[in-house]
Amino acid sequence: MAVSIRWLGHSAYSFDIDGHKLLIDPFVSGNPVAKAAANDLDAEVILLTHAHGDHVGDSVEIAKRTGALVVCNFEMGDWFMAHGVQNVFQGNPGGTFSNDWMSAKWTVAHHSSSFPDGTYGGQPNGFVIRGGGATIYHAGDTCLFGDMKLIGDEGLDLALLPIGDCFTMGIDDSIRAIGFLQAKRVSPMHYNTFPPIEQDEAAWAARVEAETAASAVVLEPDGEFSL
Ligand code: NI
Ligand code: MN
Repeated sequence: MAVSIRWLGHSAYSFDIDGHKLLIDPFVSGNPVAKAAANDLDAEVILLTHAHGDHVGDSVEIAKRTGALVVCNFEMGDWFMAHGVQNVFQGNPGGTFSNDWMSAKWTVAHHSSSFPDGTYGGQPNGFVIRGGGATIYHAGDTCLFGDMKLIGDEGLDLALLPIGDCFTMGIDDSIRAIGFLQAKRVSPMHYNTFPPIEQDEAAWAARVEAETAASAVVLEPDGEFSL
């Protein structure tokens, strides 16, 4: 029972859960900080938080090449099927996708969601992911919200939180979010990809250690750690 977590940069992750591959928001091509190439990414499941280009990323290409199941909201699933990806599971907040090695429950996220071609992408989401004996929250793109307390009740081993400000919560609100989420570990995402979301991740980590009960895990793009 083990999970290894590789941060691809931005909000993109590759998880290995007991030998199975999960990709989240795989934005690699055109991502100025990513070191991985889309062609080298493998997946059985691709989890997508919302339809913005910096989250859908290389999903269509990877899904077609690998046959991975795309797990996303209803409107996004329709768009994928219209773009030649038939292996789709559609849900919405409160719903859970599960197979024999993982589950992912949709949570709300406060943000917007449209595809780069302008198609409406439904409501944005986060996910509570369970697998390999661990419970992990990927917040997607969102501001701070009070119902993060309810997500914290799930018993989180790890929370992946945006800290870039501008399009999502910034550092101050991420510290308050950590207080609600009560995760054992937190790792930052959605920062330093582009100039409007530049942040000092070392200063963030110092505040996490000083002001919260969580441990901060700061990775370089393509960095990895295990739970
Ligand atoms: Ni977004
Ligand atoms: Mn984004």
